[in-house]
Amino acid sequence: MQALLTIAVRAARKAGDFVLRESNHIKAIDSKSTHDYVTNVDTAAEQLIIQTISNAYPTHSFLGEESGKTGDAEYQWVIDPIDGTTNFIRKIPHWAISIACKHKGKTQVGVVYDPSKEELFTAVKGRGAQVDGKKMRVSNTKGLEHALLATGFPFRNESKLEKYLEIFGKLFPHCSDMRRAGSAALDLAYVAAGRIDGFWEYGLSPWDTAAGALLVQESGGMISDMQGDPKFEESSSILAANPKAFKAMLKIINS
Ligand code: IPD
Ligand code: CA
Ligand code: CA
Repeated sequence: MQALLTIAVRAARKAGDFVLRESNHIKAIDSKSTHDYVTNVDTAAEQLIIQTISNAYPTHSFLGEESGKTGDAEYQWVIDPIDGTTNFIRKIPHWAISIACKHKGKTQVGVVYDPSKEELFTAVKGRGAQVDGKKMRVSNTKGLEHALLATGFPFRNESKLEKYLEIFGKLFPHCSDMRRAGSAALDLAYVAAGRIDGFWEYGLSPWDTAAGALLVQESGGMISDMQGDPKFEESSSILAANPKAFKAMLKIINS
């Protein structure tokens, strides 16, 4: 598995350098759907990642945000070339490259790389998680009174707004504050690093969460959908937190 991680890190760093270099000359901004932007840099970065991984593992399959699903191998790489494209377009230095490798559907390694801050978050299944080579653990904040939570707004799907605001209204009075930073992969990495205590959002896709979920689990955190079902990838919602905050959040959300 170490070999898979080495290649994932190589691909993430290559793509990170490329995206940083290109950030001052974005050539095209398209809308995939309402409020869902993609640039020429997203698509080129995804190709660079796929090429780097394919050179090492020519038979592996891919699920990329921009190029979709290719192949049907036991090993599948799940890629978000820029998680936080809106931040990237607006020169807000908070976006990341997210790469996970699954074997028969189970994530084996996860890498989230933040090139603007040169921070590398990595995890290997069963072997823990690290930030820049140092072991990561989720926070130990008990309950929610002093908890700092993070979220993502349902900006693409306004039909979710009412439900979203209802849950926001339930959680907000119980925690110390709430962040909306604009990159779900980094939100999950920050839960793993103990910088925030919990994260919740509606409407994420596998490439947003595959690497970050392993970071959280390997740092001692819990992850599920907002009903507490661990199969969050099949659901429309996600909840990730340290075990105590997780329990408290789940109770309040479903009260
Ligand atoms: C988005 C970011 C954002 C989240 C969105 C995601 P993208 O990813 O993670 O924080 O709220 O739901 O789609 O589109 O920038 O790769
Ligand atoms: Ca994303
Ligand atoms: Ca993206």
